[in-house]
Amino acid sequence: MKRFILLGTSLLAASSLLLTACGQNTPTVSNSPEATTQPTETSRKEIPIGIALAQTSNVALLGQEGVAGSKIAEKYFNDKGGINGTPIKLVVQDTGGDEAGAINAFQTLITQNKVAGIVGPTLSQQAFSANPIAERAKVPVIAASNTAKGIPEIGDYIARVSSPVTVVAPNSVKAALKINPNIKRVAVFFAQNDAFNKSETEVFQKTVKDQGLDLVTVQKFQTTDTDFQTQATSALNLKPDLIIISGLASDGGNLVRQLRELGYKGLIIGGNGLNSSNIFAVCKTQCNGVLVAQAYSPDHKNAVNEAFRETYLNQYKKQPPQFSAQAFAAVQVYVEALQALDKKTPIKDLSLEQLRTDLNKQLLTGTYDTPIGLISFSPTGEVNQKDFYVAEMKVDKDGNNGQFVYLK
Ligand code: ALA
Repeated sequence: MKRFILLGTSLLAASSLLLTACGQNTPTVSNSPEATTQPTETSRKEIPIGIALAQTSNVALLGQEGVAGSKIAEKYFNDKGGINGTPIKLVVQDTGGDEAGAINAFQTLITQNKVAGIVGPTLSQQAFSANPIAERAKVPVIAASNTAKGIPEIGDYIARVSSPVTVVAPNSVKAALKINPNIKRVAVFFAQNDAFNKSETEVFQKTVKDQGLDLVTVQKFQTTDTDFQTQATSALNLKPDLIIISGLASDGGNLVRQLRELGYKGLIIGGNGLNSSNIFAVCKTQCNGVLVAQAYSPDHKNAVNEAFRETYLNQYKKQPPQFSAQAFAAVQVYVEALQALDKKTPIKDLSLEQLRTDLNKQLLTGTYDTPIGLISFSPTGEVNQKDFYVAEMKVDKDGNNGQFVYLK
């Protein structure tokens, strides 16, 4: 028995290596005989798309919203006929909250689940470690929540539908100044153990200076912290009238709560990592009024958003959040790129390697009318998106639920 298992494991390892080796070394010429004689089993009955998002750990507060959006997209597009008659099949692998979890999920999706492309991972911090694996295996990745600078530049196979911090973050500072034009003294907090938060705080700090405001202090913490008394007290001693936080939902929510408990009454801006209604359970009514820039509005007027919003509302009894809309958009990009590709060369005739390479080329050329609006990609895979918003947290009296109210 033991020998059998060992043999099985080494066969698996060998075939994984072979697959990886093929991915790296086989030239992918459209009309090569090899490409047309090795269709994948799965690509004929259904087309597997990998979802590598956090289902566990503190990062699950964000990752679960992504999975929800991608599943709505799977049903929506399959009900419409999938890829010219062939359904897509999402394969969800939990990345957890760290780099190792994301690497494992990517490897499993690439070598065992044989996906055509991957949506994920949840954090930019994870993407900088996991995406190079997909890049080497020539598997397309569409990030649906990575907003740090430099994500698409990781490689030719990496794109994103999540607009970067440089584009999104300044909107919330401008909105805060509209609400209170007397703001002068700004305290900035950021999680120093996280790539996205380091990237976002740079943009926030630059925006503060560009707007002629005084950056009175920069306080650092970790995404795993729960106690912020020291940093909060130091900052409040400097009498800021705006506080800007770059963290994730759990740490960010606790920081907001503790700032309010210490008596801070001014405006608070939360970055993209606080952009989840899952934060309400952490900071309860102390979240009220926190401003967060948005790359999605539930009110966006197009047919696909109306359908997405209605399904989400029915299922979750609240408005869809940005991370769900972005994950929907990422799946939509795969679906529409696969449809276009299939019309040029029937997908069933393509080897897995060829499918992945052709899909990557195809997706970068399209324009997609998604719940987050009309999007396309730059040649490096950066999203081109038009509309951004700012919303304010409004928490119900019970403190666990609430909504993002969009500012005019
Ligand atoms: N926007 C966050 C990141 O990029 C979730 O890590």
